[in-house]
Amino acid sequence: MLEQYSLSMPGAVYSGKGALGRIRELTEGRFKRAAVFTDRGVEQAGLLKLPMEQLKKAGVDTVVITDLPAEPDCDAAQEIVDTFRQTGADLIVAVGGGSVMDVAKLASITAGGAPSVRELLENPGLGRKSVQTLMIPTTGGTGSEATMNSIVAVPERQLKVGIVNREMMPDMVILDGSLLKHLPKKIAASTGIDALAHAVECFTSNKANPFSNLFAKEAARLIFHNIQAACEDPEAEEAKTNMLIAAFYAGVAISASGTTAVHALSYPLGGKYHIPHGVSNAMLLLPVMRFNEPACRKEFAELYDAITGEGIEDSAMTEEEKADKLLNRMGEIIRSLEIPSSLSAFGIGAEALEELVEAGLDVKRLLNNNKREISCEDARGLYLEIMR
Ligand SMILES: NC(=O)c1ccc[n+]([C@@H]2O[C@H](COP(=O)([O-])OP(=O)(O)OC[C@H]3O[C@@H](n4cnc5c(N)ncnc54)[C@H](O)[C@@H]3O)[C@@H](O)[C@H]2O)c1
Ligand SMILES: [Zn+2]
Repeated sequence: MLEQYSLSMPGAVYSGKGALGRIRELTEGRFKRAAVFTDRGVEQAGLLKLPMEQLKKAGVDTVVITDLPAEPDCDAAQEIVDTFRQTGADLIVAVGGGSVMDVAKLASITAGGAPSVRELLENPGLGRKSVQTLMIPTTGGTGSEATMNSIVAVPERQLKVGIVNREMMPDMVILDGSLLKHLPKKIAASTGIDALAHAVECFTSNKANPFSNLFAKEAARLIFHNIQAACEDPEAEEAKTNMLIAAFYAGVAISASGTTAVHALSYPLGGKYHIPHGVSNAMLLLPVMRFNEPACRKEFAELYDAITGEGIEDSAMTEEEKADKLLNRMGEIIRSLEIPSSLSAFGIGAEALEELVEAGLDVKRLLNNNKREISCEDARGLYLEIMR
C-alpha cells in the first residue's frame, strides 16, 4: 500500500436516463466551436445524432472528425491531431471508445502546435491543456474518460505505450447507457472485461490505496452483476449504464493506483499482433490472477465479500476459499461471454513465445505494480497458457 495517495477525476460527470440531454447546458454560451472526434463504426451506428442536435441547440458550431482509426499508432494519432489544429475549435467532444477518446486527449494538450505525439512518448509531461474536453464513451469500457492516460502503438517497438500526463484528465463526462444499445456483443464483452481487469489489477496493485480501493471494489461489483445482461440484451439499458459507470470507476482507480501484469503482458499482443485491447486482457486476466493468488489472497477475499455481500455471514469461509470462489466465478463469466481465449484464434503459435516474453517484460512501468514478481520463466508460462 502506498504511503501517500491522491484522487483525480474529471470536473463534472453526468449519468442516468437521458444524460446526453445535458450537452446543451454544458456548452451553451461557453464554447464557440466544437471538434467532434469519432470513428466510422460509431458514426454508422447513428450515435452522433443526439450530441450534434444538442450542440446545435446550444449555438455551438461543429466540425466532425470521423476517420479515427481503431487502436491508433502514434503517427496515425499525430495526423488526427494535425487535422484538429486546423479547425480552430475551442472544445473537443469525443464520442466513441478508448481509441477515439485517447486521441482526443492528445489533441487537447498539443493544440498550440507542440509537442508532437512522438515527443510526448519521450517526455509525457510536456503538453499543456489549451482546449477543454467532453468525453462521451460508447463502450463500457476503457475508462479513458476518467484517466490521464492515452495509449498509442509504437510500430518500431511493436508495443503499445501509455502516455501519462495530468493535463489530459477530461473536463466533462457523460455516461449514457442508451449509446450502448447496438454495441455488438463481441465488443461489449471484451471491453467490459477490460474494465474488470482495470478494477481487479488496481485493487491488487502495489499502488493500491484507500481511494483506488473504493472505486475498484465498486467497479468489480457492478461488473460481476451487470456484464452478462449488458452483453446479451440490447434492451438492458440499466445494465449498460451500470457498465459505463463501472468502467468510469475503474478508470478513476487507474488514476489513483495502476494496472499490473495483465496489462503489461497484453501490450505486445496489441502492439505487434493487433489483438483488440479488451480481448488480450480477457485472455490474460484469469491466468495472471491465478498466478498472483498467493500474493493477493487477502485482496481477492475482500473482493469476494464486496461482490457477494456475504462478508460477515460467511465468515466460516477461509480467505483461500473466498479467493478461489472469486476466481472461479470470474472464469465462468469470461467463458460465458465467448471471448477468444487462445492466441491460436489469431494464428499465433509457439514461434512467437520468446519475442512476447521479451516485449512483455519490458513493460516495467506496470510490472512494478504487480504484487508477485514475474520472472522470465513465469512470463513464458503465462503466455504458454494462452497458447493452448
Ligand atoms: N486511456 C486509457 O486509460 C485507456 C485504458 C484502456 C484502454 N485504452 C485504449 O483504448 C483502446 C480500445 O478502446 P475500446 O476497447 O473502447 O474500443 P474502440 O474504441 O477501439 O472501439 C472498438 C470498435 O467498436 C465500435 N464501437 C464503439 N462503440 C460502439 C457502439 N456503441 N455501437 C457500435 N459500435 C461501437 C468502434 O467503431 C470500433 O470499431 C485501445 O487503444 C486501448 O489501448 C485506453
Ligand atoms: Zn485496459
